[in-house]
Amino acid sequence: MAEGEKVAVTGASGLVGTELVARLRARGFEVLRLVRRAPRGKDEVRWDPDAGTIDREGLAGIRGAVHLAGENVASGRWTEAKKARIRGSRVRGTELLAGALAELSPKPEVLVSASAIGYYGARGDEVLHESSPPGGGFLASVCQQWEAATGAARDAGIRVVNARIGVVLSDEGGALAKMKMPFLLGLGGRIGDGSQYMSWITLDDVVSALVFAVENEELAGPVNLVAPAPVTNASFTKTLGNVLNRPTVLPVPKFALRLGAGAEMADEMLIGGARVVPAVLQATGFEWKHPTLEPALRSVL
Ligand SMILES: NC(=O)c1ccc[n+]([C@@H]2O[C@H](COP(=O)([O-])OP(=O)(O)OC[C@H]3O[C@@H](n4cnc5c(N)ncnc54)[C@H](OP(=O)(O)O)[C@@H]3O)[C@@H](O)[C@H]2O)c1
Repeated sequence: MAEGEKVAVTGASGLVGTELVARLRARGFEVLRLVRRAPRGKDEVRWDPDAGTIDREGLAGIRGAVHLAGENVASGRWTEAKKARIRGSRVRGTELLAGALAELSPKPEVLVSASAIGYYGARGDEVLHESSPPGGGFLASVCQQWEAATGAARDAGIRVVNARIGVVLSDEGGALAKMKMPFLLGLGGRIGDGSQYMSWITLDDVVSALVFAVENEELAGPVNLVAPAPVTNASFTKTLGNVLNRPTVLPVPKFALRLGAGAEMADEMLIGGARVVPAVLQATGFEWKHPTLEPALRSVL
């Protein structure tokens, strides 16, 4: 894709979407935001993933799309209703968008569709790359369905990138913003024995990698959006404590997390971990601004 061309973005109001829209505009792309309310200007088009409706005429002329929308995974307990929203918003929304893109004439060149490293499940210290098989659990099953839901676009000859995003580090929101307060109070500590891996990426780099995926014709299929240096939870805890200049002596017991967040969410998001490497990004020459954790945290915080 080239400067001046039109890119549609879903989930544009989110943590990643807000930054992505600004970056795409700064690179000279015209951005069309897909919104779930009445459009407020010419740069917005309406869709309703729950109702299965999308303004197909409004999408005319787009050359690419970045699809980020989905019910937030980390806010609120995983009740059956919440889990249904997490899965349904992603599968229905992705099928709707991919189907609409496939019917456009001319067809867009590329769909970059978010997925997550949750695809791999909890895998100890196994090194995981894009061709590793999926893991078990709720998130892994959601990610598989979410990726499969892009099928109509792929079948129509659109280049589809399934961006398996790691833990996004930002001071504006997401995991780090939640973790910061206990650390600032001196209550930060490793989770359990701290051996589980955390595959992280800064917000700045995840946005660069999404733009790279839009622009780079070599990329298709699953791509891990993580920094090249995943760390154990023990190492992450120690580094975050150093950066914030706070002690991290008290480990957080697993039972307390299971009690607080619910067992399934705690096991999949906090206690389990995955050591994911960005094999495709490395092979295609992507350059990280923050490849290692300590400078990344210093820059973000
Ligand atoms: N942040 C991370 O650490 C991380 C890690 C792995 C994967 N991801 C994935 O990357 C994507 C973007 O992440 P993010 O952190 O920017 O997420 P976010 O801040 O939660 O934003 C997601 C956006 O999706 C839309 N949305 C919310 N609920 C929805 C629903 N029920 N149905 C349809 N759309 C809904 C909203 O945008 P509108 O109101 O503008 O429609 C929202 O701003 C998400 O799909 C997320 O699962 C993120």
